[in-house]
Amino acid sequence: MSVIILAIESSCDETSAAVCVDGKILSNIIASQKVHEQYGGVVPELASRAHAENIVPVVHAALQKANCTVAEVDAIAFTQAPGLIGSLLVGGQFAKSLSLSLNKPLIAVHHMQAHVLANLIDEPKPSFPFLCLTVSGGHTQIVLCNSPTDMTILGETIDDAAGEAFDKSAKLLGLPYPGGPLIDQHATEGNPKRFIFPEPQIPGLNFSFSGLKTSILYFLQNAGKSNLFKEEFSATEEERIEFIKNNLSDICASIQHRIVTILLNKLKKASIETGVTDICLAGGVSANSGLRKAFAEMGMKYNWRTFIPSFQYCTDNAGMIAITGYYKFLANQFADLSISSTARAEW
Ligand code: KG4
Ligand code: ZN
Repeated sequence: MSVIILAIESSCDETSAAVCVDGKILSNIIASQKVHEQYGGVVPELASRAHAENIVPVVHAALQKANCTVAEVDAIAFTQAPGLIGSLLVGGQFAKSLSLSLNKPLIAVHHMQAHVLANLIDEPKPSFPFLCLTVSGGHTQIVLCNSPTDMTILGETIDDAAGEAFDKSAKLLGLPYPGGPLIDQHATEGNPKRFIFPEPQIPGLNFSFSGLKTSILYFLQNAGKSNLFKEEFSATEEERIEFIKNNLSDICASIQHRIVTILLNKLKKASIETGVTDICLAGGVSANSGLRKAFAEMGMKYNWRTFIPSFQYCTDNAGMIAITGYYKFLANQFADLSISSTARAEW
Protein backbone atom coordinates (compact mmCIF):
# COMPACT_ATOMS: atom_id res chain seq x y z
CA MET A 1 0.00 0.00 0.00
CA SER A 2 1.28 3.47 -0.91
CA VAL A 3 1.93 6.17 1.68
CA ILE A 4 0.68 9.60 0.57
CA ILE A 5 1.79 12.69 2.52
CA LEU A 6 0.40 16.19 2.05
CA ALA A 7 2.91 18.72 3.39
CA ILE A 8 2.64 22.41 4.25
CA GLU A 9 5.50 24.87 4.77
CA SER A 10 4.95 28.45 5.99
CA SER A 11 7.87 29.24 8.29
CA CYS A 12 9.00 32.50 6.68
CA ASP A 13 7.93 34.20 3.45
CA GLU A 14 7.18 31.24 1.19
CA THR A 15 3.79 29.52 1.24
CA SER A 16 4.32 26.00 -0.06
CA ALA A 17 2.49 22.68 -0.32
CA ALA A 18 3.70 19.35 -1.66
CA VAL A 19 2.47 15.81 -2.18
CA CYS A 20 4.82 12.86 -1.69
CA VAL A 21 3.93 9.27 -2.60
CA ASP A 22 6.23 6.58 -1.19
CA GLY A 23 9.10 9.03 -0.86
CA LYS A 24 8.67 10.49 -4.34
CA ILE A 25 7.66 14.16 -4.62
CA LEU A 26 4.79 14.53 -7.11
CA SER A 27 4.20 18.24 -6.59
CA ASN A 28 5.95 21.12 -4.86
CA ILE A 29 4.06 24.40 -5.24
CA ILE A 30 5.74 27.54 -3.88
CA ALA A 31 4.14 30.98 -3.66
CA SER A 32 6.84 33.58 -2.93
CA GLN A 33 5.92 36.87 -1.29
CA LYS A 34 7.20 39.85 -3.25
CA VAL A 35 5.67 42.35 -0.82
CA HIS A 36 8.80 42.38 1.40
CA GLU A 37 11.25 43.62 -1.24
CA GLN A 38 10.37 47.27 -0.72
CA TYR A 39 11.15 46.99 3.03
CA GLY A 40 14.61 45.44 2.67
CA GLY A 41 13.66 42.33 4.70
CA VAL A 42 10.74 40.10 5.65
CA VAL A 43 7.99 41.97 7.55
CA PRO A 44 6.43 39.33 9.84
CA GLU A 45 2.89 40.72 9.88
CA LEU A 46 2.79 41.03 6.10
CA ALA A 47 4.16 37.49 5.79
CA SER A 48 1.36 36.03 7.97
CA ARG A 49 -1.30 37.86 5.98
CA ALA A 50 0.12 36.66 2.67
CA HIS A 51 0.24 33.06 3.98
CA ALA A 52 -3.42 33.32 4.97
CA GLU A 53 -4.29 34.44 1.43
CA ASN A 54 -2.11 31.89 -0.33
CA ILE A 55 -2.57 28.72 1.64
CA VAL A 56 -5.85 27.44 0.18
CA PRO A 57 -4.91 27.93 -3.50
CA VAL A 58 -1.39 26.56 -2.90
CA VAL A 59 -2.68 23.37 -1.24
CA HIS A 60 -5.27 22.93 -4.00
CA ALA A 61 -2.61 23.34 -6.66
CA ALA A 62 -0.33 20.79 -4.99
CA LEU A 63 -3.10 18.18 -4.79
CA GLN A 64 -4.20 18.88 -8.35
CA LYS A 65 -0.68 18.64 -9.78
CA ALA A 66 -0.15 15.32 -7.97
CA ASN A 67 -3.50 14.13 -9.34
CA CYS A 68 -4.58 13.29 -5.82
CA THR A 69 -7.63 14.06 -3.69
CA VAL A 70 -7.44 15.11 -0.08
CA ALA A 71 -9.37 11.95 0.84
CA GLU A 72 -6.51 9.80 -0.49
CA VAL A 73 -3.90 11.46 1.73
CA ASP A 74 -2.56 9.27 4.58
CA ALA A 75 -1.12 12.03 6.76
CA ILE A 76 -0.63 15.78 6.91
CA ALA A 77 2.87 17.07 7.63
CA PHE A 78 3.57 20.69 8.51
CA THR A 79 6.46 22.89 9.60
CA GLN A 80 6.03 23.25 13.34
CA ALA A 81 9.29 25.16 14.08
CA PRO A 82 11.45 27.21 13.85
CA GLY A 83 10.40 30.37 12.02
CA LEU A 84 8.25 33.48 12.31
CA ILE A 85 5.52 32.63 14.77
CA GLY A 86 2.68 34.29 12.84
CA SER A 87 3.74 32.55 9.64
CA LEU A 88 4.12 29.15 11.32
CA LEU A 89 0.69 29.50 12.92
CA VAL A 90 -1.07 29.90 9.56
CA GLY A 91 0.35 26.64 8.17
CA GLY A 92 0.07 24.88 11.53
CA GLN A 93 -3.58 25.77 12.08
CA PHE A 94 -4.42 24.86 8.51
CA ALA A 95 -2.73 21.45 8.86
CA LYS A 96 -4.47 20.80 12.19
CA SER A 97 -7.86 21.75 10.76
CA LEU A 98 -7.36 19.36 7.86
CA SER A 99 -6.21 16.62 10.21
CA LEU A 100 -9.24 17.08 12.46
CA SER A 101 -11.84 17.41 9.73
CA LEU A 102 -10.51 14.52 7.63
CA ASN A 103 -9.49 12.36 10.57
CA LYS A 104 -5.95 11.94 9.23
CA PRO A 105 -2.80 11.76 11.36
CA LEU A 106 -0.69 14.88 11.84
CA ILE A 107 3.10 15.00 11.53
CA ALA A 108 5.11 17.91 12.98
CA VAL A 109 8.33 18.67 11.11
CA HIS A 110 11.37 20.67 12.20
CA HIS A 111 12.24 23.03 9.34
CA MET A 112 16.02 22.62 9.71
CA GLN A 113 15.83 18.82 9.74
CA ALA A 114 13.75 19.05 6.58
CA HIS A 115 16.45 21.16 4.87
CA VAL A 116 18.91 18.31 5.60
CA LEU A 117 16.54 15.60 4.34
CA ALA A 118 15.96 17.50 1.08
CA ASN A 119 19.06 15.56 0.06
CA LEU A 120 16.98 12.35 0.13
CA ILE A 121 14.50 13.59 -2.51
CA ASP A 122 16.41 13.03 -5.75
CA GLU A 123 18.89 10.40 -6.91
CA PRO A 124 21.74 9.93 -6.23
CA LYS A 125 21.18 9.99 -2.48
CA PRO A 126 23.81 10.08 0.27
CA SER A 127 24.31 7.00 2.45
CA PHE A 128 24.04 7.19 6.24
CA PRO A 129 25.80 8.59 8.10
CA PHE A 130 26.25 11.79 6.12
CA LEU A 131 27.20 15.36 6.98
CA CYS A 132 25.14 18.32 5.86
CA LEU A 133 26.12 21.98 5.79
CA THR A 134 22.81 23.83 6.00
CA VAL A 135 23.15 27.47 4.99
CA SER A 136 20.15 29.76 4.84
CA GLY A 137 19.05 33.27 5.69
CA GLY A 138 18.38 32.27 9.29
CA HIS A 139 20.71 29.33 9.98
CA THR A 140 24.18 27.96 9.45
CA GLN A 141 24.71 24.46 10.78
CA ILE A 142 26.82 21.37 10.28
CA VAL A 143 24.62 18.35 10.97
CA LEU A 144 25.57 14.70 11.34
CA CYS A 145 22.66 12.66 9.98
CA ASN A 146 22.68 9.02 11.16
CA SER A 147 19.19 8.22 9.89
CA PRO A 148 16.14 10.26 8.77
CA THR A 149 15.07 10.51 12.40
CA ASP A 150 18.47 10.73 14.10
CA MET A 151 20.46 13.93 13.55
CA THR A 152 22.94 15.87 15.67
CA ILE A 153 24.11 19.46 15.25
CA LEU A 154 27.93 19.43 15.32
CA GLY A 155 28.37 23.17 14.85
CA GLU A 156 26.35 26.30 14.18
CA THR A 157 26.66 30.04 13.96
CA ILE A 158 27.04 31.96 17.17
CA ASP A 159 25.73 35.18 15.56
CA ASP A 160 24.69 35.86 11.94
CA ALA A 161 23.77 33.15 9.47
CA ALA A 162 25.70 32.79 6.18
CA GLY A 163 22.72 34.12 4.19
CA GLU A 164 22.53 37.09 6.54
CA ALA A 165 26.25 37.73 5.97
CA PHE A 166 25.57 37.85 2.23
CA ASP A 167 22.46 40.02 2.61
CA LYS A 168 23.98 42.45 5.12
CA SER A 169 27.14 42.83 3.00
CA ALA A 170 24.93 43.50 -0.02
CA LYS A 171 23.05 46.16 1.93
CA LEU A 172 26.34 47.90 2.80
CA LEU A 173 27.09 47.93 -0.92
CA GLY A 174 23.72 49.55 -1.63
CA LEU A 175 22.28 46.42 -3.29
CA PRO A 176 18.57 45.57 -2.82
CA TYR A 177 17.24 42.77 -0.57
CA PRO A 178 17.83 39.84 -0.71
CA GLY A 179 21.36 40.70 -1.82
CA GLY A 180 22.91 37.21 -1.69
CA PRO A 181 22.09 36.31 -5.31
CA LEU A 182 23.31 39.76 -6.47
CA ILE A 183 26.67 39.35 -4.73
CA ASP A 184 26.90 35.98 -6.49
CA GLN A 185 26.16 37.61 -9.88
CA HIS A 186 28.71 40.44 -9.47
CA ALA A 187 31.30 38.02 -8.05
CA THR A 188 31.42 36.02 -11.29
CA GLU A 189 33.22 38.96 -12.96
CA GLY A 190 35.51 39.81 -10.01
CA ASN A 191 38.85 38.89 -8.50
CA PRO A 192 38.24 37.00 -5.20
CA LYS A 193 41.80 37.61 -3.97
CA ARG A 194 41.83 41.39 -4.53
CA PHE A 195 40.61 42.35 -1.04
CA ILE A 196 41.39 40.22 1.99
CA PHE A 197 38.77 40.03 4.74
CA PRO A 198 39.70 38.29 8.01
CA GLU A 199 38.69 34.71 8.81
CA PRO A 200 37.26 34.53 12.36
CA GLN A 201 39.07 32.22 14.77
CA ILE A 202 36.13 30.40 16.35
CA PRO A 203 36.94 27.14 18.15
CA GLY A 204 35.40 23.79 17.15
CA LEU A 205 32.81 23.58 14.41
CA ASN A 206 30.91 26.78 15.21
CA PHE A 207 30.77 29.77 12.88
CA SER A 208 30.74 33.53 13.30
CA PHE A 209 29.97 36.11 10.63
CA SER A 210 29.38 39.30 12.59
CA GLY A 211 33.10 40.26 12.58
CA LEU A 212 33.19 39.93 8.81
CA LYS A 213 30.25 42.30 8.50
CA THR A 214 32.01 44.87 10.71
CA SER A 215 35.22 44.52 8.76
CA ILE A 216 33.36 45.13 5.48
CA LEU A 217 31.69 48.17 7.01
CA TYR A 218 35.06 49.70 8.03
CA PHE A 219 36.60 48.73 4.71
CA LEU A 220 33.88 50.62 2.83
CA GLN A 221 33.93 53.58 5.19
CA ASN A 222 37.65 53.86 4.44
CA ALA A 223 36.93 53.43 0.71
CA GLY A 224 39.04 50.27 0.59
CA LYS A 225 42.15 51.76 2.21
CA SER A 226 41.80 49.67 5.37
CA ASN A 227 39.36 47.33 7.02
CA LEU A 228 40.72 48.06 10.48
CA PHE A 229 38.73 50.13 12.91
CA LYS A 230 39.46 53.85 12.81
CA GLU A 231 37.71 56.40 14.99
CA GLU A 232 37.76 58.84 12.12
CA PHE A 233 36.95 57.29 8.82
CA SER A 234 39.10 58.60 6.03
CA ALA A 235 36.65 58.55 3.14
CA THR A 236 33.82 60.93 2.38
CA GLU A 237 30.40 59.63 1.38
CA GLU A 238 31.16 60.45 -2.28
CA GLU A 239 34.50 58.63 -2.18
CA ARG A 240 32.85 55.57 -0.64
CA ILE A 241 30.13 55.46 -3.32
CA GLU A 242 32.67 56.00 -6.09
CA PHE A 243 34.91 53.26 -4.68
CA ILE A 244 32.02 50.78 -4.56
CA LYS A 245 30.92 51.67 -8.09
CA ASN A 246 34.40 51.20 -9.55
CA ASN A 247 35.23 47.99 -7.67
CA LEU A 248 31.89 46.24 -7.17
CA SER A 249 32.79 42.93 -8.83
CA ASP A 250 36.09 42.57 -6.95
CA ILE A 251 34.47 43.52 -3.63
CA CYS A 252 31.64 41.00 -4.16
CA ALA A 253 34.06 38.26 -5.26
CA SER A 254 36.28 38.92 -2.21
CA ILE A 255 33.34 38.88 0.24
CA GLN A 256 31.94 35.71 -1.32
CA HIS A 257 35.36 34.07 -1.26
CA ARG A 258 35.69 34.74 2.47
CA ILE A 259 32.19 33.49 3.34
CA VAL A 260 32.77 30.34 1.29
CA THR A 261 36.17 29.61 2.86
CA ILE A 262 34.73 30.10 6.37
CA LEU A 263 32.00 27.57 5.57
CA LEU A 264 34.13 24.99 3.81
CA ASN A 265 37.05 25.05 6.25
CA LYS A 266 34.64 24.04 9.03
CA LEU A 267 33.03 21.40 6.84
CA LYS A 268 36.46 19.92 6.09
CA LYS A 269 37.20 19.87 9.83
CA ALA A 270 33.87 18.10 10.49
CA SER A 271 34.66 15.44 7.89
CA ILE A 272 38.13 14.84 9.33
CA GLU A 273 36.79 14.63 12.90
CA THR A 274 33.91 12.26 12.10
CA GLY A 275 35.48 10.27 9.26
CA VAL A 276 32.25 10.83 7.28
CA THR A 277 32.76 11.42 3.54
CA ASP A 278 29.19 11.56 2.15
CA ILE A 279 28.66 15.32 2.39
CA CYS A 280 25.65 17.45 1.48
CA LEU A 281 24.71 21.09 1.18
CA ALA A 282 21.25 22.44 1.96
CA GLY A 283 19.42 25.76 2.32
CA GLY A 284 19.07 28.84 0.11
CA VAL A 285 22.77 29.79 0.16
CA SER A 286 23.64 26.46 -1.49
CA ALA A 287 22.44 28.17 -4.69
CA ASN A 288 25.63 30.29 -4.51
CA SER A 289 27.82 29.47 -7.49
CA GLY A 290 31.09 30.15 -5.64
CA LEU A 291 30.07 27.79 -2.82
CA ARG A 292 28.95 25.06 -5.24
CA LYS A 293 32.20 25.24 -7.19
CA ALA A 294 34.48 25.27 -4.13
CA PHE A 295 32.41 22.46 -2.52
CA ALA A 296 32.81 20.29 -5.62
CA GLU A 297 36.57 21.01 -5.73
CA MET A 298 36.97 20.19 -2.05
CA GLY A 299 35.02 16.97 -2.62
CA MET A 300 37.40 15.94 -5.41
CA LYS A 301 40.43 16.79 -3.30
CA TYR A 302 39.31 14.85 -0.21
CA ASN A 303 37.50 12.01 -1.98
CA TRP A 304 34.06 12.97 -0.72
CA ARG A 305 30.80 12.04 -2.40
CA THR A 306 29.07 15.42 -2.62
CA PHE A 307 25.33 16.14 -2.89
CA ILE A 308 23.28 19.31 -3.41
CA PRO A 309 19.46 19.21 -3.73
CA SER A 310 17.99 20.68 -6.90
CA PHE A 311 17.30 24.40 -6.59
CA GLN A 312 13.56 24.09 -5.81
CA TYR A 313 14.46 21.94 -2.76
CA CYS A 314 17.28 24.25 -1.54
CA THR A 315 15.20 27.33 -0.76
CA ASP A 316 12.15 27.02 1.52
CA ASN A 317 9.73 24.46 0.07
CA ALA A 318 7.16 21.91 1.19
CA GLY A 319 8.84 19.08 -0.76
CA MET A 320 11.43 18.82 2.01
CA ILE A 321 8.64 18.84 4.64
CA ALA A 322 6.91 16.04 2.71
CA ILE A 323 10.00 13.79 2.53
CA THR A 324 10.65 14.34 6.25
CA GLY A 325 6.97 13.64 6.94
CA TYR A 326 7.24 10.41 4.95
CA TYR A 327 10.15 9.13 7.06
CA LYS A 328 8.40 10.19 10.27
CA PHE A 329 5.29 8.31 9.08
CA LEU A 330 7.39 5.16 8.58
CA ALA A 331 8.84 5.65 12.08
CA ASN A 332 5.35 6.16 13.56
CA GLN A 333 6.23 9.65 14.76
CA PHE A 334 2.88 11.43 14.85
CA ALA A 335 1.81 14.61 16.63
CA ASP A 336 -1.51 15.31 18.32
CA LEU A 337 -3.67 18.38 17.99
CA SER A 338 -2.33 19.91 21.19
CA ILE A 339 1.07 20.58 19.58
CA SER A 340 1.96 24.28 19.26
CA SER A 341 3.97 26.07 16.62
CA THR A 342 7.15 27.54 18.10
CA ALA A 343 9.50 30.22 16.77
CA ARG A 344 12.57 28.50 18.24
CA ALA A 345 12.92 24.79 18.89
CA GLU A 346 15.48 22.28 20.02
CA TRP A 347 15.82 19.13 17.93
O1 KG4 B 1 16.81 28.84 2.77
P1 KG4 B 1 16.33 30.19 2.29
O2 KG4 B 1 15.61 30.26 1.00
O3 KG4 B 1 15.42 30.86 3.35
C1 KG4 B 1 15.67 30.82 4.70
O4 KG4 B 1 16.41 31.72 5.16
O5 KG4 B 1 15.16 29.88 5.37
O6 KG4 B 1 17.64 31.12 2.21
C2 KG4 B 1 17.57 32.46 1.84
C3 KG4 B 1 18.98 33.03 1.88
C4 KG4 B 1 19.01 34.55 1.71
O7 KG4 B 1 19.87 35.08 2.68
C5 KG4 B 1 19.57 34.73 0.30
O8 KG4 B 1 20.28 35.92 0.12
C6 KG4 B 1 20.49 33.53 0.21
O9 KG4 B 1 19.77 32.49 0.81
N1 KG4 B 1 20.81 33.19 -1.18
C7 KG4 B 1 22.05 33.34 -1.71
C8 KG4 B 1 21.95 32.94 -3.06
N2 KG4 B 1 20.65 32.56 -3.31
C9 KG4 B 1 19.98 32.71 -2.13
N3 KG4 B 1 23.19 33.77 -1.15
C10 KG4 B 1 24.27 33.81 -1.94
N4 KG4 B 1 24.26 33.45 -3.25
C11 KG4 B 1 23.14 33.01 -3.85
N5 KG4 B 1 23.15 32.65 -5.13
ZN1 ZN C 1 14.74 27.50 5.41
